Amino acid sequence: MEPVHCGRPPTPGEQASDWWYLFRYPDVAAVLKDPRFGRSIIPALDAPPPPVPAEEREPFWDMYAHWTLALEPPAHTRQRTLLNRAFTARVVEALRPSIVARAARLLDNLPAHGHFDVVTDFAFPLTLSIIAELIGIPQRDLDQVKAWSLTIAAVLDYKRTWDIMAAGNQMTRDFTAYLNGILAQRRARPASDLISRLLSAAKDDEKLGEEELVSLCIMLLFAGHETTVNLISAGTLLLMEQPEQLDIFRARPEMTDSAIDEFLRLHSPIQATTRIAYADVVIGGRLVRRGESVTLLLGSANRDPAAFPDPDRLDIARRPNRHLAFGRGIHYCLGAPLAMAQGGIALRALFEKCPDWQPAATPIWSDNFGFRGLASLPVVCAR
Ligand code: HEM
Repeated sequence: MEPVHCGRPPTPGEQASDWWYLFRYPDVAAVLKDPRFGRSIIPALDAPPPPVPAEEREPFWDMYAHWTLALEPPAHTRQRTLLNRAFTARVVEALRPSIVARAARLLDNLPAHGHFDVVTDFAFPLTLSIIAELIGIPQRDLDQVKAWSLTIAAVLDYKRTWDIMAAGNQMTRDFTAYLNGILAQRRARPASDLISRLLSAAKDDEKLGEEELVSLCIMLLFAGHETTVNLISAGTLLLMEQPEQLDIFRARPEMTDSAIDEFLRLHSPIQATTRIAYADVVIGGRLVRRGESVTLLLGSANRDPAAFPDPDRLDIARRPNRHLAFGRGIHYCLGAPLAMAQGGIALRALFEKCPDWQPAATPIWSDNFGFRGLASLPVVCAR
């Protein structure tokens, strides 16, 4: 496939082809930073689209329309400024002891020499409980939140079907009703969590309505754990597969961040994202027309040999490592520092518990194109 690939070549008489795929690092990085590309079709239209009749509206997309990733400046800038305050390095540092304690507790409760699943018994409960604590969601409700999150991942995937869409709409109704209940409780009795802080910010910012607040909580609960689960399980697998890299990882705690960057590069939890051209732009000698969609293959860019020498090799000391797993430009991942901290703490705790995890069954990768991650990674301690 050519590096700037057109998904539907124009047939004779047809003016525009409509879907592009970019694979190379410089092309993907450039589009992520280029204001001539964005997330919404509206700036690429000559006139605003007619309103969608109420009976045709999809609750999921109405909810998603408030997500930071769906917004353009100035709405994006406003929301991002509000959220940035909640995800400062200081907030992440303050969460560290809680992450360490939760990781230790989960590992202590595992059978000493029995099998366990790194995805379902460790990474999921760890990351979900942390983001829930930050936002202010009771721990007893996390099984339900996990089920809702899996539905969101399916709806956002490129392989979405009508049945999945219907499940996504029902999930949106249920999740919204649930969060409305939590918001009512916090309004009556504020706590020190993110929901209480957003509620208090809403008093000063008349643009931050109830619907947006609920959507933001759904976004953060989803974005705040699904991808980090995939980082932890992929990192575990990579280290298990390559004992000489594991030896370096265990001996050199100062290499934690470079190791996490390398896991993210090799198994990027978000493999692809999409932008719409707001102007005619030439990329790699091909003309992408205004209004056309461009899928950016982050996972491919992160293995571009022109950007990363010997790109398929795991090198936990690799520096520089300017991977695109957290994106780039105005939508650069809000939770990157939190994800790095959680990934590092989780993997250190896991390999301190046992220096020699071995596969207890074949790992199973999720059946999802956009989100790359393991659905199951059964392991057993060999020492
Ligand atoms: C390993 C873990 C993670 C990975 C690989 C990841 C990846 C990404 C990527 C690639 C984007 C940009 C998408 C685009 O430009 O189209 C993004 C954006 C975002 N991420 Fe993450 N993410 C991770 C963890 C988190 C966490 C822990 C949170 C929240 C606590 C979070 C919240 C967000 C939000 C809100 C955005 C949208 C930012 C904006 O539009 O300005 N992510 N993430």
